[in-house]
Amino acid sequence: MALYALGDLHLGFQVNKPMDRFGKVWKHHERKIEKYVNQMVKPEDTLVLTGDHSWGRKLEECREDLAFIERLPGHKILLRGNHDMFWDAKKTQRLNEAFEGKLFFLQNNFAAYQDYALVGTKGYTFEGPYYLDRWGNVAGWDEEREEQAKKLVAREMDRLRESFRMAEEAGYRKFIMFLHYPPTNILEETSPFTAIAEEYGVTAVVYSHCHGERRFGDSIRGTFHGISYMLVSGDYLDFHPARILP
Ligand SMILES: [Fe+2]
Ligand SMILES: [Fe+2]
Repeated sequence: MALYALGDLHLGFQVNKPMDRFGKVWKHHERKIEKYVNQMVKPEDTLVLTGDHSWGRKLEECREDLAFIERLPGHKILLRGNHDMFWDAKKTQRLNEAFEGKLFFLQNNFAAYQDYALVGTKGYTFEGPYYLDRWGNVAGWDEEREEQAKKLVAREMDRLRESFRMAEEAGYRKFIMFLHYPPTNILEETSPFTAIAEEYGVTAVVYSHCHGERRFGDSIRGTFHGISYMLVSGDYLDFHPARILP
């Protein structure tokens, strides 16, 4: 039995959104996903997909993308990405009822993998309140956007804390924490997300959202304060799921 993760499938079977304009790695990327996931993941394994599943704006436009995900092997757990418009944050329970036994939508709840609780939320990192010059130095700051970003972080932290609370109440003491956004922005060393990961002593923080060579190093990769941080964006992994456990 194993736990895998892969993010940012960016499927669009029902909408016209060719991905290869973002680079060679995206050419027929859905074929790569199908091939590599089938090669690596066994039916008894768990596969966490860390958001940005579909370009469809409504559930009806995502049917084929979600059916594609359903056909992949393993127990599929989905996290909400910034592009997942089909997923109303207030209606996660409804999605879980509609896809019961096929897909599990992780938000304000948790999933179990052996003696680990899989907790998570979309997260948020603000990449815009500051402006960098071409040498990477901070050239300006937008205070209004910073205020807005703080609100979004606070809301996501509430959701994440609820996920931890429920897992702990159910008796779990070991955690893997999933985010769609990276846990820190490019200027930060720590954030509320790294703080909660340390508070609960999570084994690993798994995130995606960063696309393209220039963005892969935006946040923490490797071990930081004893916690393993893993970037699992599809293009970063050339669409091979990453093994998280054992
Ligand atoms: Fe993405
Ligand atoms: Fe994203």
